[in-house]
Amino acid sequence: MRKKIVAGNWKMNKNYTEGMSLFSEVLNMVKDEVMGNQQVVVCAPFVHLHSLTALGKGHSQVSVGAQNVHQEESGAYTGEISASMLKSLDVEYVILGHSERRQYFGETNELLAKKTDITLKHGLKPIFCIGETLTERESGQYFNIVKSQLVEGTFHLSAAEFSKLVIAYEPVWAIGTGVTASSDQAQEIHAFIRKEIAIKYSQAVADDTTILYGGSCNPKNADELFSQPDIDGGLIGGASLKSRDFVDIAKVFNS
Ligand code: 13P
Repeated sequence: MRKKIVAGNWKMNKNYTEGMSLFSEVLNMVKDEVMGNQQVVVCAPFVHLHSLTALGKGHSQVSVGAQNVHQEESGAYTGEISASMLKSLDVEYVILGHSERRQYFGETNELLAKKTDITLKHGLKPIFCIGETLTERESGQYFNIVKSQLVEGTFHLSAAEFSKLVIAYEPVWAIGTGVTASSDQAQEIHAFIRKEIAIKYSQAVADDTTILYGGSCNPKNADELFSQPDIDGGLIGGASLKSRDFVDIAKVFNS
């Protein structure tokens, strides 16, 4: 059975002190309130990660993730962070290909394929993001766009490697806008993504792949979205900055 995951992406928010408080609140609430097998992941700014993995030690239901990684092993790349550095901090997940990185930092599918490789090589789990812009949705190209992001970024992997990935579908028009994809719209594309994985790898690999939805997900709409058969959780932006909202979203999977 594939894993249910609720992951928070703090983006460039929360200074160090604020970040520690927010994470401690999340840990305590998860311990008391989250009942089930769902995994809670917090993807925080790099400078918080060392302290967060230390605070989170022993809390197996909560994992820590980064929001980016450099594609090379090491060397003269001033200001960058490597996969081995993240691994040495006990970071478990890395968000790759978020639309903000594609849009503002020019990340291409080709570059993201390299980032996927180095992330897996160091035993970290990629949360690989795909999703179309509003123009691409309105022109009806969204299946093609999402497919090419998936194919060019990840389909060079072996089935064993691909099985370590989490996929996140985040329509760009729903990120930070308050406009959520309807549960039917999200289910349609999640089913399409799973079908493409089955065609490339196998039905078994497709059935085991966790596919998250991201884009204006909140405690009010999470239940409806996560009740769709191909939606296995969420990648949460704004609502992950409030411990109550974030944990309420994770509680949708309480058994
Ligand atoms: P919002 O939940 O703020 O729309 O952000 C979604 C997102 O980009 C998560 O990676």
